[in-house]
Amino acid sequence: MESTTGASASPVLEARHIKRHFGAVVALADASMTLYPREVVGLVGDNGAGKSTLLKILSGILAPSDGEIAIDGKPVTLRRAQDAMDAGIETVYQDLALVDTMSAYQNVYLGREQLSKNPIARLFNLVDDREMRARAREVLDSLKVKVPSINVSVKGMSGGQRQCLAIARALLWGRRIVILDEPTAALGVRETGQVLEVIAGLREQDVSVIIVSHNMQQLMTVADRITVMRLGRSIATRTVKQTDVSEIVGLITGAVPGDSPEARAAQQIPA
Ligand SMILES: Nc1ncnc2c1ncn2[C@@H]1O[C@H](COP(=O)(O)OP(=O)(O)OP(=O)(O)O)[C@@H](O)[C@H]1O
Ligand SMILES: [Mg+2]
Repeated sequence: MESTTGASASPVLEARHIKRHFGAVVALADASMTLYPREVVGLVGDNGAGKSTLLKILSGILAPSDGEIAIDGKPVTLRRAQDAMDAGIETVYQDLALVDTMSAYQNVYLGREQLSKNPIARLFNLVDDREMRARAREVLDSLKVKVPSINVSVKGMSGGQRQCLAIARALLWGRRIVILDEPTAALGVRETGQVLEVIAGLREQDVSVIIVSHNMQQLMTVADRITVMRLGRSIATRTVKQTDVSEIVGLITGAVPGDSPEARAAQQIPA
């Protein structure tokens, strides 16, 4: 996949030396990552490496104990999820948080129902159903997401349809960055293909993506670069074109040394 990322482009997101501990537990010892415009970065690492913790920090759910985050080169403090959303960052969590009894379009607007333009209706806080339906339809179409109907409850939808819907919601609101934590973990082959297509579609819409996945083969097809985390540290970043699954797996397990001085020291490899 041809990356549109030029070396001269400045990063849309930069996380530098992020640390986070929970009491005595060090979840993140020193994690850094960079995301360029229209880039898909895969974040990989063993269970407990700190991936979800880093994603939560980037989505304002958790505060870092130390480190800096910059969006478009400007330092930001993400105190709550709303701060990240205001900055154009949307996150799709593993559990998705779709409301079963609501329809597809209602789920796309969950929590941010559009107020009606009619001043009388506004008084009563009524939402502009027609506009919400139209916009939801537009976003789903633009991503080629096929759902049986945007008007019926999502309860009967397949895992893939639900996942695509959650991603569509993220796209509608995530103007700059969409963060996906294991979006295909629970999906079948066909559904996974559908989700990967949607992710590729995000790039076309000028959105950058961070995706956590344990499926290396899949990341190789969808990502431009891969950042490897190990024991709370980002130890290496590789361009997909210049690496392969065995190197990435080696970095994850520690069989291949990382790039940081600490990683090399830990494995007694001279710099
Ligand atoms: N709220 C918390 N309280 C205490 N420890 C936590 C908390 N959240 C995460 N941790 C710890 O921090 C470390 C990193 O966890 P994290 O969930 O970020 O890993 P991960 O890379 O997402 O793993 P997985 O691939 O299993 O999802 C783990 O040791 C975990 O037990
Ligand atoms: Mg996780």
